[in-house]
Amino acid sequence: MAKPKRFITTPIYYPNSRPHIGSAYTTIVADFFARLYRELAYGTYFLTGVDEHGEKIQKAAEAKGETPQQLVDEMASSFKDAWKRLGISYNRFIRTTEKSHEKLVREILMKVYEKGDIYKDVYEGYYCVSCERYYTEKELLPGLLCPYHHKPVEKKRIDAYFFRMAKYRDELLAYYRENPQFLPPKYKEEILNKMKDLKDICISRPVNQVSWGIRLPFDEEHVAYVWFDALLNYMSGLDDKMQFWPPDLQFMGKDILWFHAVLWPAMLISAGFALPKREIAHGFLTVDGKKMSKSLGNVVDPLEMAEKYSADTLRYYLLTKLPFGDDGDFSRAVFKEAHNSELLGHYGNLANRLVKLWHRVAGKAEIEQEGKLAVDECFAKLESLKAKIEELAASNDVESLLPFYANDVFMDGVGAINAYLNEKEPWRLEPSEAEPILRQALEAFLYVSTLLKPLLPASTSKIFSSFGYEPCVSELELGATLSKVKTIPKELFLFKRVE
Ligand code: MSP
Repeated sequence: MAKPKRFITTPIYYPNSRPHIGSAYTTIVADFFARLYRELAYGTYFLTGVDEHGEKIQKAAEAKGETPQQLVDEMASSFKDAWKRLGISYNRFIRTTEKSHEKLVREILMKVYEKGDIYKDVYEGYYCVSCERYYTEKELLPGLLCPYHHKPVEKKRIDAYFFRMAKYRDELLAYYRENPQFLPPKYKEEILNKMKDLKDICISRPVNQVSWGIRLPFDEEHVAYVWFDALLNYMSGLDDKMQFWPPDLQFMGKDILWFHAVLWPAMLISAGFALPKREIAHGFLTVDGKKMSKSLGNVVDPLEMAEKYSADTLRYYLLTKLPFGDDGDFSRAVFKEAHNSELLGHYGNLANRLVKLWHRVAGKAEIEQEGKLAVDECFAKLESLKAKIEELAASNDVESLLPFYANDVFMDGVGAINAYLNEKEPWRLEPSEAEPILRQALEAFLYVSTLLKPLLPASTSKIFSSFGYEPCVSELELGATLSKVKTIPKELFLFKRVE
């Protein structure tokens, strides 16, 4: 039977500034899963991009003395460049200023309007430009400050169009009940609480206030609210590949879960589309215990970290050292320790030690090109790693996959090979005795490294290109990999110590 598909998304980022550690975190998590499902031979489509309309972008452009188009053009390239440097394997990078996206947004708006789910009224509320959303007075902090940005909000009274979101309350609640995976367990209560008082939502801005947006097809004097526009990227970004619909895994930070868990499915019910399977929220990062902010000067630049250590170190740190779903602290000390003792000490040194030993001790031996290697019992449990990964992936158990990779695959899987070498001490043996031991260890090393491809794509790619053979997880068989390599490299440096 053919494997099912996975449509994986990140939020589309506001290109008012360069990618920061928050956007890098969401993107790297999503990329890990996209790579994992590809390794398991699922039909995988991984979408990311930028959210280019709205007041926030319009104001950022004004402040820089540029047109919004100039600003978003520059920024879209800066995001693409960052994702390239961090090894993000997206299938499609969507920009909401693309004609095909604008066309789809207008079509959906028209559909929802014709269904009677959009009406005109007067809106009065407090708008936070940084959030691109309205708050009611009781949602604000004392002094009428935005609860997220702690900045003053603007009181506005406008003629506007509303989407009949409240009408879909019961249908949404039923969907949550029937699809227990849809809401992230940690934030479920919060969403359900907000549902008690679900109101219709304002989905337009008058052109004289915000001109940088998509015009409503039924009233060209208004532009679509940026969230109504942005959420539809998940559909327009598929282009003609609607066979991937609906989204399977939608990743985001907890601050924007509400839009994805409530507004987004309500829009889709109204427009008549199947609903996404899982909305997955991660927590917020602080830096060395403090809120990350420009004024504190403690903003972590993901590209700088990747440059100084490696892109794999950044990925390894974010995926294995932070408690996914909860808030976490970005600690430079832990980061450095993860690089030097875990990536280099536990894994990188093993790689180099193994290939060097092979050439020193068993170097004249030929790699047997046929048959399957009978694998030592010490490594038998490696096969259960693959089985477990397949099982967790099939059930979309994102929360368990990350710690499983950190502890079972990386720590224990690699640890088993280190322990084997330390016990057998092949460096003390005659070549004829050492050779079968190194053969075992190399086979196990290639096996674990294949499993590690989604976690450490750059390092594992270096390993496989130097061996001249790259297996993928779905075809992996313990005992059948070493016989397929073209060569065993003389040395293999994966990570450099950072002082
Ligand atoms: N444009 C909207 C999303 C529209 S999706 C249809 C948006 N853009 S954003 O640029 O602000 O997104 C930032 C992403 O980074 C969100 O997932 C957010 O949760 C995440 N983070 C921003 N700061 C963060 C931290 N300090 N820590 C972790 N992630 C945070 O929202």
